[in-house]
Amino acid sequence: MPRPVPPEDDIASFYHHADPARERFCLGLACFVARRRNPDRWAKACAGIPREYCFGRCYAGPASNLDAALPQVVVDASEPVLLGDNIADPYSALRRARALSAESLIALVESSGLRGRGGAGYPTARKLSAVHKEPAGLKYVVANADEGDPGAFSDRVLMLRHPHRLIEGMAIAAHATGASSGIIYIREEYPHTLAVLEAALAEARRLGALGAGFDITLVQGRGSYVCGEETAMLNSIEGLRPSVRVRPPFPTSCGLHGRPTLVNNVETLATLPWIVERGGAAFRALGFSSSRGTKLVSLNSLFNRPGLYEVEFGVTLRRLCEDLGGGLRTGPVRGIVVGGPLAGVVPPELLDTPFGFEELREIGASVGHGGLVAFDDDTSIRELLEHVVAFAAYESCGQCAPCRYGAARMERLLKSDRLTREEWDDTVSALAHTSLCGLGGGLAEFAQSLSRHYPREISACFA
Ligand SMILES: Cc1cc2nc3c(=O)[nH]c(=O)nc-3n(C[C@H](O)[C@H](O)[C@H](O)COP(=O)(O)O)c2cc1C
Ligand code: SF4
Repeated sequence: MPRPVPPEDDIASFYHHADPARERFCLGLACFVARRRNPDRWAKACAGIPREYCFGRCYAGPASNLDAALPQVVVDASEPVLLGDNIADPYSALRRARALSAESLIALVESSGLRGRGGAGYPTARKLSAVHKEPAGLKYVVANADEGDPGAFSDRVLMLRHPHRLIEGMAIAAHATGASSGIIYIREEYPHTLAVLEAALAEARRLGALGAGFDITLVQGRGSYVCGEETAMLNSIEGLRPSVRVRPPFPTSCGLHGRPTLVNNVETLATLPWIVERGGAAFRALGFSSSRGTKLVSLNSLFNRPGLYEVEFGVTLRRLCEDLGGGLRTGPVRGIVVGGPLAGVVPPELLDTPFGFEELREIGASVGHGGLVAFDDDTSIRELLEHVVAFAAYESCGQCAPCRYGAARMERLLKSDRLTREEWDDTVSALAHTSLCGLGGGLAEFAQSLSRHYPREISACFA
C-alpha cells in the first residue's frame, strides 16, 4: 500500500536545506580538527545557519562550499580499479555483462569477493541475488551518493572524474537484478557533481548504454546526514518524511514504492565494470583476508599530503598515515577517526593495524566510508567527543528514543559539566543495543572506542 505523501511544508522542515549559491562554511569533523588553520572560517562555520556538516572538501579544511580545488589523487595499489585512466571504451563491460545470463553475472561478482563500500561491508553478490530472485516486475537500482560522513570525499571525486563508471555499474547491476529504473540520490552539497552526472547520463543515452530497458534519473538531497541511511533515503525519494524504516522487510524485497530495490554505494557500483572486464579472480587477487580489492581512502587537511588514495585492503594505517600522507604538518598524531565520526578512534600505538573490515572492527574502528581524519594536540578528547555528540544529536531523525533523547541528553550534560559515569554507561549501552539504525549505534561505537583507547581523558569528562 503506498503511503500518502504529506504536505511539502511538513517535509521541508525536516531538512537542513540551504542556499547553494551562497558561500557556506563547513562544520564537519575534518574542518573541526583543522579549525586553528583558519579561525576566521571556523567562526563563520560555527555561526552558520543551518549547520553544514560536510562539503567533501576535507583535504582543504576548514572549507567553504565554493572552494574549487580538487584533491591530489594517488594510486598505491598493484592495479587501479577505480581511479585509473585506462578504460578506452567506456561501456565495453556493460556489453560483456549483457551477453551473460543474470545468474552468471551474479556468480562472477560473487567470485570477486566484493563487499559494499558504503559502510557495512555487506557482500554485493548476495544483495544482487536477493533482488534478482524477487518475482519479475518493476525493480529499482539506487546509487547512494549521499556521502554524508565528514572526512570522506571519495564518492565526490569518483563521480567528478569517472561518472560513466557509476552509470555503467548501475546498468550492470540492473541486468543482474532485472531492474528497469535507476536513481542516483546525490547530496545537495555537491551541485557541481550533479551537473557532471547530468551530462554523463545524456552521453550514456546517446551511446545507447541507457534508454531501452533501463534508464537513470537524478534525485537531489536537501541536506540531511541520515538520508544516507538506505531506508531514510528511500523515504526521501518518495517525498515522505525521511525517517529510518523498521527492517524487515529489507529494501531488496520491499524498497522504493514497495518494490524490490538494490541500494548500493557509488564506489561499490563503480567497481562492477572492472570486475566484469577483468574477472572475479583478478579482483580477488587484490586486497587481503576477507577484504578484497582496492578501497578509496580520504586523508584530511592536517596531513602533509592530504588527498584521495586508492589502496589495496591490507595496507596498514601506518603506511596510509606516514608513508602516503607524510604525517601531520602540525605535529604528532594524537588519534585518527577512521571510517567516519560514528565509528571509532584509533590511537597512535595501533597504527600497525591493517585496513580491513574485520581487522578494524577488532580494535573498535570501521572501514566505514574510508575517511581518515587525523587530529593533533590542538584537539582534546573532550572537544572531539563534544563535537561528535553534537553532530549526532543534530542529525538524528528522531525515529527511536535512545538516539533522539540519548544523543541530545549527552550533548546537554557534557556542555553543563553534569555528565556522570553512570549516565554515560547507561546512555552508551542503550544506544548500542536499541538504536534502530547505525547513527545511534555508531555514536555508541565512537563513545566505546574513546573509553577503550583514551580512558583517562574520558574519566576526566565526568562530574
Ligand atoms: C546514518 C547512516 C548514514 C549513511 N550514509 C551513507 C552514505 O552517505 N553513503 C552510503 O553509501 N551509505 C551510507 N550508509 C549505509 C547505507 O545505509 C547502506 O548500507 C549502503 O548504501 C549500502 O551500500 P553498499 O552495500 O554498497 O555498502 C549510511 C548508514 C547510516 C546508518
Ligand atoms: S538511531 Fe537515530 S537516526 Fe537512527 S533511526 Fe534511531 S533516531 Fe533515527
